[in-house]
Amino acid sequence: MSQLTVKVVNKVQEAEEIVSLELASVDGKPLPSFSAGAHIDVHIRDGLIRQYSLLNDSAEQHRYVIGVLRDPESRGGSIAVHDDINQGDTIQISSPKNHFELVQAKRTLLFAGGIGVTPILCMARRLSHIGADFEMHYNSRSPERMAFREAISNAAFADKVHFHFDNGEDSQKLDLAPLLANPQADTHLYVCGPTGYIDFVVNTAKQAGWPSDHVHLEYFGAAEVDTSGDTSFEVKIASTGQVFAIPADKPITQVLDEAGVFIPVSCEEGVCGTCLTRVLEGTPDHRDLYLTDAEHEANDQFTPCCSRSKSPLLVLDI
Ligand code: FES
Repeated sequence: MSQLTVKVVNKVQEAEEIVSLELASVDGKPLPSFSAGAHIDVHIRDGLIRQYSLLNDSAEQHRYVIGVLRDPESRGGSIAVHDDINQGDTIQISSPKNHFELVQAKRTLLFAGGIGVTPILCMARRLSHIGADFEMHYNSRSPERMAFREAISNAAFADKVHFHFDNGEDSQKLDLAPLLANPQADTHLYVCGPTGYIDFVVNTAKQAGWPSDHVHLEYFGAAEVDTSGDTSFEVKIASTGQVFAIPADKPITQVLDEAGVFIPVSCEEGVCGTCLTRVLEGTPDHRDLYLTDAEHEANDQFTPCCSRSKSPLLVLDI
């Protein structure tokens, strides 16, 4: 994936704890094109790479815009963006990648929870641009914490958007079951936000009989995993026959990296898929949000940055 050097041409406080960064090429040339739902890897500093969705109109090539929530629970990525990256700085990013593509549909339902609005907003802009039939629901804890509210309220598609606030009147809260009650063959649903929000939307859709391939989701941040029962196991490198002991408290990628066996990583929390590795023997203990349920069940690939092993030995195709 090619790297780009871009300049931060604007940094704006969009809501409580949320900033946007507008990035442009340093030489004034157009940036690589992207499609709605795409994200970029942002190299925040050495060894710290995080993924952020592009929220601006996907027809634009003079800039990429990302929105970043300052998350005190994170491992430093979002805090560094807030505190250390400023207007005028030059940073490295990847070309846009998309694991959350819009598919052509007669009707589209968009659901955004908190900072999960970024790819959803990009999708709304695209759908509005092509004159598609869609409806967007945007949940936030409070008006003060809702980013891009003014831009959305002034957009051409403002009448298709419903704002919902956790601290507001009951009458404006998201009443999901009736919205999803009658799944149609030509309607697709997209949801992005915190794990609990996504689970709520996806489970409600499932109960209403939505086919899983019409429900598209993208997580922000890692799944919560109970690591208290983690134990040690071994990993064998198929190409060399080397066997490494993985202690209970270290990720596979870290142990291998320390021994000079390099697996590329990016998010290091099972979200991006950069470290995806084929498994030739053994049963992985999947901890990622990247692979689908069917891919987890196949057990022939896994994300070694966060996943572990259910069997005493895993043989990796590297
Ligand atoms: Fe992102 Fe492993 S590095 S899933």
